[in-house]
Amino acid sequence: MKTKRKWLAVPGFLAIAAAAAMLSAYAGASSSQGNGPTQPIAFPHTVHAGTLKMNCVYCHFSATKSPDPGLPAVGTCMGCHTVVSPAKPGAQLLAGYWNRKQPVPWVRIHKLPEYVHFPHMRHVNAGVSCQTCHGQIQNMKQVYQQNSLNMGWCINCHVGRSNPPFKARYDCSTCHY
Ligand code: HEC
Ligand code: HEC
Ligand code: HEC
Ligand code: HEC
Ligand code: HEC
Repeated sequence: MKTKRKWLAVPGFLAIAAAAAMLSAYAGASSSQGNGPTQPIAFPHTVHAGTLKMNCVYCHFSATKSPDPGLPAVGTCMGCHTVVSPAKPGAQLLAGYWNRKQPVPWVRIHKLPEYVHFPHMRHVNAGVSCQTCHGQIQNMKQVYQQNSLNMGWCINCHVGRSNPPFKARYDCSTCHY
């Protein structure tokens, strides 16, 4: 029984991957691989997540409990930057937003189409690291999208072909409903 199901999964996966590669040529696809826009403040993950070794979830506070991982409020930054190098250019810009009571208009990088359902908490709680999907963010001077985020990429992992391997459902209604 088990071997038969395994054997059936291979052509099934190939068909889905081929269909997905064709379909992603159409509009309504995910944000592009390599996409790394300039941000309103040159926020260095290299300093915060690299040198200072801050936990990703300190800023992306809802990654373990919500579909959306969240972005830090200006107040989270000001907790340090009222005293940490306040004269540096990034800290100056930051103080400007803080004084005007405005959020920083960060440019969104990773984006799936609206018809795809992606719950961060399910992945993070199953032990998939941020880096598996986003790459070595703590070493990126400017964050860019390392993976394609297309359907073949999602399914490749759900069927157990990623490194390290994971398992998850991959019927159409898992991600589309
Ligand atoms: C593990 C998640 C996942 C599963 C399971 C999945 N999809 Fe998708 N699907 C996606 C993602 C992500 C995209 C967006 C692809 C892109 O941006 O290139 C997508 C895109 C599509 C599109 C493209 C729409 C367009 O306009 O480009 C169709 C159609 C589609 N999926 C149908 C299916 C069908 C049929 C199944 C079942 C055989 C299925 N999907 C299973 C994640 C999934
Ligand atoms: C001090 C707060 C802070 C820490 C710690 C932090 N981040 Fe971020 N992160 C941000 C801010 C601010 C942005 C938006 C600006 C940018 O893209 O650089 C961001 C953007 C991102 C993005 C891109 C979001 C998008 O639009 O697609 C990813 C992915 C990300 N962070 C992952 C991580 C990971 C993984 C870690 C841990 C290794 C981490 N971050 C640690 C503040 C933080
Ligand atoms: C835990 C304390 C802490 C938090 C929280 C924090 N930072 Fe920093 N940040 C630092 C330290 C320490 C440095 C390195 C100081 C230096 O270069 O002199 C730094 C450096 C920077 C720099 C480079 C120097 C500059 O000002 O141009 C920027 C930009 C920056 N942080 C922005 C942010 C933003 C935006 C947030 C919120 C998303 C944030 N920081 C949250 C501690 C923090
Ligand atoms: C299984 C792959 C995967 C893992 C693991 C993962 N992410 Fe993501 N992340 C994505 C995808 C896909 C998107 C785009 C989601 C969308 O558009 O709905 C995204 C989007 C984001 C964004 C932008 C969201 C926004 O609202 O601007 C941030 C920030 C982020 N991830 C941070 C993290 C952090 C931090 C971790 C680890 C705690 C993490 N991610 C783990 C795949 C992943
Ligand atoms: C590196 C591996 C990996 C990648 C890449 C990945 N996933 Fe997952 N996914 C998992 C794991 C592990 C689970 C959790 C399974 C569990 O909790 O039993 C999961 C769970 C899910 C669930 C919840 C399934 C359920 O049982 O309700 C959805 C929806 C989902 N993923 C969508 C996506 C989409 C969409 C993408 C691509 C944009 C994606 N995943 C990429 C590993 C991955």
